[in-house]
Amino acid sequence: MESKLFTPYQLGPITLRNRFIRSAAFENMCANNTPSQMLEDYHVSVARGGVGMTTVAYCAVDLSGVSFDGQLYVRDEALPGLKHLTDAVHAQGAKASIQLGHCGNMTHWSTCHCMPVSASNGLNLYSPTIHRRLKVEEIKTLVRRFGEAVDFARKAGFDCVEIHAGHAYLLSQFLAPRTNHRHDQYGGSFENRARFLNEVLDEVMVHAGEDMAVIVKTNMYDDCWRGVSVEEGLRIAKEIAKHHVHGIVLSGGTVSASPMTILSGAMPTHALAHYMPMKSMWWLKAALDSGLAGLLIPTVKFQPLYFMSLAKRFQAQIQNVPLIYVGGVQSGDDCQRIMDEGFELFQLAHVLIKDPEFVHHVQENPHYHAGCGRSNYCIGRMYTKEMKCHECVERDGEVIPKLLKREIATLEKRWNQK
Ligand SMILES: Cc1cc2nc3c(=O)[nH]c(=O)nc-3n(C[C@H](O)[C@H](O)[C@H](O)COP(=O)(O)O)c2cc1C
Repeated sequence: MESKLFTPYQLGPITLRNRFIRSAAFENMCANNTPSQMLEDYHVSVARGGVGMTTVAYCAVDLSGVSFDGQLYVRDEALPGLKHLTDAVHAQGAKASIQLGHCGNMTHWSTCHCMPVSASNGLNLYSPTIHRRLKVEEIKTLVRRFGEAVDFARKAGFDCVEIHAGHAYLLSQFLAPRTNHRHDQYGGSFENRARFLNEVLDEVMVHAGEDMAVIVKTNMYDDCWRGVSVEEGLRIAKEIAKHHVHGIVLSGGTVSASPMTILSGAMPTHALAHYMPMKSMWWLKAALDSGLAGLLIPTVKFQPLYFMSLAKRFQAQIQNVPLIYVGGVQSGDDCQRIMDEGFELFQLAHVLIKDPEFVHHVQENPHYHAGCGRSNYCIGRMYTKEMKCHECVERDGEVIPKLLKREIATLEKRWNQK
């Protein structure tokens, strides 16, 4: 009998040919905020490799929400390139999704061309930057921007939008008491902190109409001081479900405080320091070079399907909206277990960076293991270079410095799951 993995799934108004979704994983392939041929080639490769849907990572709804130089934001100039990409993905039989978000304080004036904004005034050492509190009328404008971003996605040929409400980007900066110190209708009580997200989802659902699928990536917990707890993460997921979105992606962690909760394993700190830009991240680069890395970025022991037990707690309480699993898929057996645990869909990032043909390989051999060593080199490289697995980097003739190669080998040995 064919596994449910390879059966179609009705995600709101669209039908996916199977249960595999390429997760939003920042490609850094959009110099001058414009989609490149490389971006298209990568998404076509995973579409050809068999995924049901691929997600173009992180498109900011407004220039103020861009967190990396090589990132998309909603503007007409990006439309032709994106339309070309979605047509090419469709020609391979896959659907195309785009992640829409705003990074809030996770940027620097040199990237977003304004003083970074957030729920409250403050200092974000990660960028590093001071940031200012959004005025109520600015919040309303951003709500409208999310709606307009859905229209933009439709024009670009996307079938689905993924709203990024996790990882301590702007929507989760409003949700978390750590970053939201407001005393108006957008701060204080849970209802107030969730108001911005609720308004955004109201707007998004109106613009999505009858033809676009909408999924939301949320945090089950922020895993940091005064971040969203599991109990609040559950309340947030229930709020999201009230909007009748077509799916909720269950993630967790905070980019600036607990990034390894998102990714699991260890940060390759030498790679990070090596590829980090000097212009804005000098503080972090210097700290990483000085050996403080272990304190700054706590390691999380890698386990395949590392979010499964928490995701099951959410599954037990949310039945009216499909929950989409993400986190630590390494093999065909992991994919089958997700189905056996009662999830209908799941997302993958690491394995599809290493092996865009992963889905076909699982179809041929249900026990196929992608052999991703979880060194997270692909993340370390992300600040200034295009997304790539170290094996592809070397295959393509780019030299990886010896120190970084040693780091990769050490980390792969530590998390060896093959
Ligand atoms: C190189 C890289 C870039 C990522 N960029 C994003 C991003 O832009 N938005 C997002 O929500 N998650 C991002 N993630 C997280 C993934 O979407 C996913 O949640 C996480 O990697 C766990 O899935 P995996 O174990 O299949 O890789 C990124 C992950 C990687 C490896």
